[in-house]
Amino acid sequence: MDKSVPAWLADAVFYEIYPQSFADSNGDGIGDLEGIRQRLDHVQSLGCNVVWLNPCFDSPFGDAGYDVRDYRKIAPRYGTHADMKRLLRDLHRRGMRLCLDFVPGHTSVEHPWFQASCKPTPNKYSNWYIWTDSVWTGAPGFSTVNAFSDRDGQYVTNFFWFQPALNYGFAKPDPAQPWQLPTTHPDVLAMKQEMRDIMRFWLDLGVDGFRVDMAPSLVKGDTDGAAMNAHWGEIRVWMREHYPNAMLLAEWSDPAKAIPAGFHVDFMIHCGTPAYNSLFRAEKQRTCFPWSEGVTSFFDASGNGDITIFLKHWQAAYARTRELGYISLPTGNHDITRLSIGRSEADLKVALAFLFTMPGVPTLYYGDEIGMKYLPGLTSKEGGFGRTGARNPMQWGEGRNAGFSSAAPSKLYLPVDTDPERPTVAAQENDPDSLLNFVRALLSLRRGQSALGNLGGFDLLHGKTGSSALLYLRKNGKQRVLVALNPAAKPAAATFPAKAVNALGENLFGRQLKLKKTAAGWQVTLPPRSFAVHAVA
Ligand code: NOJ
Repeated sequence: MDKSVPAWLADAVFYEIYPQSFADSNGDGIGDLEGIRQRLDHVQSLGCNVVWLNPCFDSPFGDAGYDVRDYRKIAPRYGTHADMKRLLRDLHRRGMRLCLDFVPGHTSVEHPWFQASCKPTPNKYSNWYIWTDSVWTGAPGFSTVNAFSDRDGQYVTNFFWFQPALNYGFAKPDPAQPWQLPTTHPDVLAMKQEMRDIMRFWLDLGVDGFRVDMAPSLVKGDTDGAAMNAHWGEIRVWMREHYPNAMLLAEWSDPAKAIPAGFHVDFMIHCGTPAYNSLFRAEKQRTCFPWSEGVTSFFDASGNGDITIFLKHWQAAYARTRELGYISLPTGNHDITRLSIGRSEADLKVALAFLFTMPGVPTLYYGDEIGMKYLPGLTSKEGGFGRTGARNPMQWGEGRNAGFSSAAPSKLYLPVDTDPERPTVAAQENDPDSLLNFVRALLSLRRGQSALGNLGGFDLLHGKTGSSALLYLRKNGKQRVLVALNPAAKPAAATFPAKAVNALGENLFGRQLKLKKTAAGWQVTLPPRSFAVHAVA
């Protein structure tokens, strides 16, 4: 691995917390930093050692905090700066780390920079956002808002209308559109400097890194990616010099681009390449965004998925990036339906056995360790729309609001799952077969076997169109581990080259495999919904 990648990533396991919904310490119905601090035993017990918090900064919360009003201030509903310091202190005492969500591409319309930029008279902030030069002129290829203020122009938005795009310039400004500034324009550079100072502000407090929202989309019209590469390359060099232990984690979903551009880790998720959706988010488990249309997931009891869609993209990205950084395949996140949708506990165990035995940095979305359900049909909250059902309160135990909050149920940020059978941490705690203990055992196995670790190598043994069997070797030095998975509700046969494995060793997890040597190589039949992890010679 490249020496400039923080060494701690070699055994990092991320845990994503949607702060609104994890633990409410003051009974106001919404989660907070102190609630998170009080629940670190749980996070640590899973084997997770890096907490990624969705934006926790001052915001009008039109998009759950991805519309920042003040990058340096903790949103009062989550607590204070002192609470953030306490959370950091406790994480670090435990040998754990904190990753904040950094939204460099846009602010809220309520951000004072944007308010100043809206003024008709030129000022320091006029060019900090992308404005066309007339309220009658749009920006082809971009969403714009007109007549928002007295300024004569339309502003470009990045996501919702209230998220105006900060101005990183245009890769190839069109001379016929003089409002398109070059990336070197002094106002663009001043804005970028301010964003860097914001990173510095949190890094100086001890934060261990950032998940970067919409990382590839800052410079506009960057068709060949050169301008974004230059931007993230600069940030990476700056971080290496001043904060060599800090991590840059991308929301790019194209690791073959994000990692060479400068990120240490990139999520392979629902957007970007179709790889992730082909694993988990088939049409019947639709993501909240439309990217999964027409895709059948491999981790489906029907056995109708096609693992080669994932393998094609992932193997290419892995080959390109394995010496430069890490790919993260998350169990889910705040933008997509939950992994549990359309899956039994047995199905979930096969999917998790895959996710936690792959190279790269695993990411667990809060609640997936107990199989929390996606709640369909909830009224949208804070711009969640279809995403809202994956953002409901963590289910800790019995009692009021499943132990999430002491508030009256009507005061909760989002309703708690009312299903009497809803999974909880307390109910699963002492059940050796529970999903919770499965996750703990698997992550502990991963930590104990370097071949299974983030840096361990990967060789595909079997993964073909028309087969629900997936077999691969993980390896580190002399240590080699075979992983075999079959998500289908029917048995699956597989054959792989005899020279890949001399003999099966200890069964480390899941089923005991039986290999049969034939002229075509090793043959194995995997029972329905099964997984096996074996040492091999
Ligand atoms: C990606 C974030 O994950 C999502 O929640 C947000 O709405 C958009 N970026 C806009 O910031």
